[in-house]
Amino acid sequence: MKNKAIKAVVVGSINMDIILSADRIPDVGENVVGTHYGYAFGGKGANQATALAKLGANVKMVGKVADDTNGKALLDNLKNNNIDTSGVAADGSATGLAAIIIDGNGKNRIIVYEGANAEIVPEEAVATIDSDTDLLLVQFETAEKVVSAVVNHAVKNNITTVIDCGPAKDFCLEKMQGATIISPNESETKALTGIFPDDEKTILEASKIIMDRSKAQFTVLKLGSRGCSVFDGKSLTLLPAYKSNVVDTTAAGDCFTAAMAVDFIRNGDIYKACDTGNKAGAIAVSRFGAADSMPAADEIDSFIIND
Ligand code: ATP
Ligand code: RIB
Repeated sequence: MKNKAIKAVVVGSINMDIILSADRIPDVGENVVGTHYGYAFGGKGANQATALAKLGANVKMVGKVADDTNGKALLDNLKNNNIDTSGVAADGSATGLAAIIIDGNGKNRIIVYEGANAEIVPEEAVATIDSDTDLLLVQFETAEKVVSAVVNHAVKNNITTVIDCGPAKDFCLEKMQGATIISPNESETKALTGIFPDDEKTILEASKIIMDRSKAQFTVLKLGSRGCSVFDGKSLTLLPAYKSNVVDTTAAGDCFTAAMAVDFIRNGDIYKACDTGNKAGAIAVSRFGAADSMPAADEIDSFIIND
């Protein structure tokens, strides 16, 4: 990818992730032996900010942590990734925490304690968005009123606006109108439309509903190992996933969304951007962790050559 410096603002969550792997998930009341554990820097907002920075963007992170051990470590990690943390307040009640269980197929189950992420003040978030911002990236791991405030502000100021609809919540899309790209995964699509996108017909039906509700320019569904789909208001295009050695799917969606957004701003081609998202997602699922599994631009470029 070309290295034009993009000025990006990410308004979103910052979590410490506790990751435990096991060959299989325990049944209720059952205890199984784990195969691996670790702590990782996570949170959908911070993961996407890290991915953008690794792809060469100038990134400002906007969010909230607490003045505690995890908050300090997460802030240091953002700074180590050259992310501007002047928009992150450290006055929250407790830093966000995610407990992630990974099964033998690399599939995850996540419980999130929102803590400080739920305490972001909409007006403060809006005030951090400079008028020369190229990209606003948001997720649903903060309050709906924060997402709608920053999206509406960015759209009004002609900033390319990308909404990642994770985690699955039935947010009121009618309150966040006119984004450039709106992108849910399969379960998020079901939460927003009542339709699980398991074939071309249901993918199209769900994409139309999301576009009608949000008035976004493009609806991009992330479809896991099936890749993704693009609906531009007229036609649906399916873009298959790349082959990957899956070890941990955590943050694959974050990686996809960030890589797609960067490519879209650089090239203005939604289909090429989604193909880049597929490549980035394929790399992320081949690595453990969240923020640390995000690829750099040259890794995506060499993935093109090696695939
Ligand atoms: P998470 O919530 O775990 O961060 P997600 O559920 O939001 O991820 P997915 O749809 O699972 O997101 O994956 C995002 C993208 O990553 C997919 O659209 C695809 O490009 C890529 N991807 C995911 N799983 C695989 C896989 N098994 N093989 C190759 N690519 C994959
Ligand atoms: O998208 C992955 C992220 O979801 C993890 O890093 C975890 O913090 C949860 O928020």
